[in-house]
Amino acid sequence: MDCKKKEFNLDSNITYLNCAYMSPLMSSVEEAGIIGIKKKRQPNIISGEDFFSESDKLREEFSKLINSEQRNQCVVIPSVSYGMANVANNLKLEKGDNIIVVGEQFPSNVYPWMEVAQKAEAEIKTISPPDTKTGRGELWNKQILDSIDERTKLVACGHIHWADGTIFDLRSIRQKTYEVGAWLAVDATQSLGALPFDVQQLKPDALIAAGYKSLMGPYSIGMAYYGSALSDGNPIEQNWINRFESENFSNLINYNEHYQPGALRYEVGEHSNFILVPMMLEAIKKLNEWKPENIQQYLIDLVEKPISILRKSGFIIEETKYRASNLFGIRLAEHHQMNELKAKLLESNIIVSYRGDAIRVSPNIYNDSNDLNKLVQALTSN
Ligand SMILES: Cc1ncc(COP(=O)(O)O)c(C=O)c1O
Repeated sequence: MDCKKKEFNLDSNITYLNCAYMSPLMSSVEEAGIIGIKKKRQPNIISGEDFFSESDKLREEFSKLINSEQRNQCVVIPSVSYGMANVANNLKLEKGDNIIVVGEQFPSNVYPWMEVAQKAEAEIKTISPPDTKTGRGELWNKQILDSIDERTKLVACGHIHWADGTIFDLRSIRQKTYEVGAWLAVDATQSLGALPFDVQQLKPDALIAAGYKSLMGPYSIGMAYYGSALSDGNPIEQNWINRFESENFSNLINYNEHYQPGALRYEVGEHSNFILVPMMLEAIKKLNEWKPENIQQYLIDLVEKPISILRKSGFIIEETKYRASNLFGIRLAEHHQMNELKAKLLESNIIVSYRGDAIRVSPNIYNDSNDLNKLVQALTSN
């Protein structure tokens, strides 16, 4: 796969290595949003069917991306916190049970569990990263697996860690959760699109992702997949469009106690969003066209050599097996000074993030080896 820079409109004076903060928009995604805005100039051209058809196409495209058998297991959400709130609303917890999260996890995948755990007098077990610079990812994964016990009701984690790209071994975690009857909720905001994800293989109870990072969509829309464990559950809101036969506008006030099939009861109200839905749809279409496995390989090839050069200069970067290539943390050796490195990156117009003690670098398909060489140059120059 070749670099897709041409599809985007990045400022050529900057080196953007910060998809984990927010992806840029492709021109075609931008265009889809503009068409959506213009549609409301003439509301008469927005038909009743339009309330359903575009979001259905989006669900279909998303289900292709994650290999879901049924598109109605996939729903439009406004944020990760919303998607996780639906899980929290249906989690059966008793006093003494526990929920497992990883250390320094993104708050939208922690606050919902804090609330339900407090109410039920259950425990949140936070598995902090081991305090070691070598074999950190492997040991961390082992500690997560070891922490799952017969009182565990949920493991909530990312596919990769949002701050340093540590990969979590979801297959082994899923296996262990099955053994103890716990749910698995995955926040794939920082990986979906850039890493393949197959829900038929992994069978998570929930897979949640914000749309504006590796999914390359706009802000304020995301996607969720809910497995069969949540099929008959209670959504956090009761909106008209998720009710059975809501397509029949003239019959809406004959209130219907049944929901639309699959997981559609969990979809956010006004999910027909005529601007964001076509944008998200266009972005996921592109990802499906390019295929996550090709994007993943492109990024592996892109970062391999720069990472080995950085390691030779003393920087500490997780070994390949336990680290993503679309997002990785660079930790410093004793002779490095974070303030100096920040100043050098700023001076070279290189945009990254700083999370915890790591420089977070998150390239994607619009980056080429020139971009990575600039990063290496800035970090290793005297
Ligand atoms: C891993 C992860 N999850 C979720 C989010 C966003 O959460 P929300 O959609 O609830 O604002 C972010 C934003 O940085 C993130 O990094």
